[in-house]
Amino acid sequence: MKIYNDTALAVLFGRSDFMKNLVSASVLSADMLNLENELRKMEKSGIDMLHFDVMDGVFVNNISFGLPVLAGIKKATDMTLDVHLMITDPLKYVKRFADSGADIISFHIESESDTMETINAIRECGVKTALAVKPGTPAEAVYEYLPYLDMVLVMTVEPGFGGQSFMSDMTEKVRLIRKKITELGLSTDIEVDGGIDAVTSAVIKEAGANVLVSGSYLFKAPDMAQAAEKLREDI
Ligand code: DX5
Ligand code: ZN
Repeated sequence: MKIYNDTALAVLFGRSDFMKNLVSASVLSADMLNLENELRKMEKSGIDMLHFDVMDGVFVNNISFGLPVLAGIKKATDMTLDVHLMITDPLKYVKRFADSGADIISFHIESESDTMETINAIRECGVKTALAVKPGTPAEAVYEYLPYLDMVLVMTVEPGFGGQSFMSDMTEKVRLIRKKITELGLSTDIEVDGGIDAVTSAVIKEAGANVLVSGSYLFKAPDMAQAAEKLREDI
């Protein structure tokens, strides 16, 4: 006999159900000259998703990679491609990123595109839809969109560069968003991105995050599989 239903458990544990923790490896930290080897290493290490950071030099102060690189990666791996658009006008590009192989598309609420229109455009492509928030944007900003999202991406550093330090005050934001998701009876994933390692991942998972993006920590680890397992482990 089940003593608690899933909602009761969610209230007890602060998670909308017993969600699986997933690791999304940020290819920004990979060796670009040996991308194929890096893909094989990620696959062998049991990485759940590949996190693909697109930067346009306007929305953030950096330029990374775009459509042709994504299409190349798609041909070379079966890993889930988790595309994070840090661009000014995501609405203009979602279809092309979906056509180039994205399985999940995150775009920023702070971008210039209309939020609901962009969510609908991503959904129409049959791709998982995620809304990203910069550190300065409050939790409440995403609440009205939660029923239309598969995932919320909470930035735990200012977007733009890998290798920055985790901002611990983002923990409260994750906690608030998880609470709202639970109240609404949804099972939306919460992804965190920036400065995630063995220590910070424990803190943020406890607050309700279940998708851990990691670049530096995973790619610098002597054993990527072991490092990923550490990120994934239940708290
Ligand atoms: C930063 C990017 C991140 C970055 C994470 O703007 O969105 O995905 O690659 O890298 P680490 O894990 O090194 O902070
Ligand atoms: Zn990212």
